Amino acid sequence: MTRTLVHLSDLHFGRSPRLEQRCVALVRALVEADVDHVVVTGDVTERGLVSEFERFQAVFAPLADSRRLSVVPGNHDRLGDDAAELAMGGRRVMIVRRPGLHLVLCDSTRVENGRFAFFAHGELDENDLAGIEAAVDEAHDGDMVAVLLHHHVLPMPHESALEALACAIGLPFGDALARGPELLSRLRGRCDLVLHGHRHVPYETLLHEQGPRPLWVGNAGCSPALGRARVFAHAHGRVIATPHWLPLGERRSRAA
Ligand SMILES: [Fe+2]
Repeated sequence: MTRTLVHLSDLHFGRSPRLEQRCVALVRALVEADVDHVVVTGDVTERGLVSEFERFQAVFAPLADSRRLSVVPGNHDRLGDDAAELAMGGRRVMIVRRPGLHLVLCDSTRVENGRFAFFAHGELDENDLAGIEAAVDEAHDGDMVAVLLHHHVLPMPHESALEALACAIGLPFGDALARGPELLSRLRGRCDLVLHGHRHVPYETLLHEQGPRPLWVGNAGCSPALGRARVFAHAHGRVIATPHWLPLGERRSRAA
């Protein structure tokens, strides 16, 4: 039986009414497409406010109420009221199981993310890495295994002049997770997908392509701004086709 997993990220509820309206359209399209599960890899909110997270919960209720939604926090969620706690209940690593799917959710944020918005980079320590490995190893045969976290695991281009300036003077705010490559190495042969957000420009790469278990690494980008989301079709514990983009919301209806 073929199932679908959809990857969203960086919704930024509270940034603007227009972005929220795009999320409404996006959820409507996902429900119409009858997708099996949806993951959101952080920055659910703009200012980390509980009220913003509650708006997210209201808009995404059609998916959450049918147990088709999983969420990890991002650095923006650490601001304000620290709404990050609402995503994973304060845990750093947790498992979500659905038919044919084994999700390992990881909180890659750090307390310092809450001090000010520019302090954006994440962190994984040895406990996090060991916890992810142990959680991945609990997968059953026939499950597709996906690790979800907010921050990028490989270096990616800077997306603003401010970020490039910070990098130029040695500040780490736009950097990938320092132990991201180590995480990928430790997941080799044990995992099918590593999905993240944080960067608003989509990215994808396939590692170990010639091996028995390729590892697909992807950044969703800012889903409501993009108006599209990646869909992974899977069966018998593996991705069975090249991931494709599902057009969502306003941009699709305008094009129609
Ligand atoms: Fe972020």
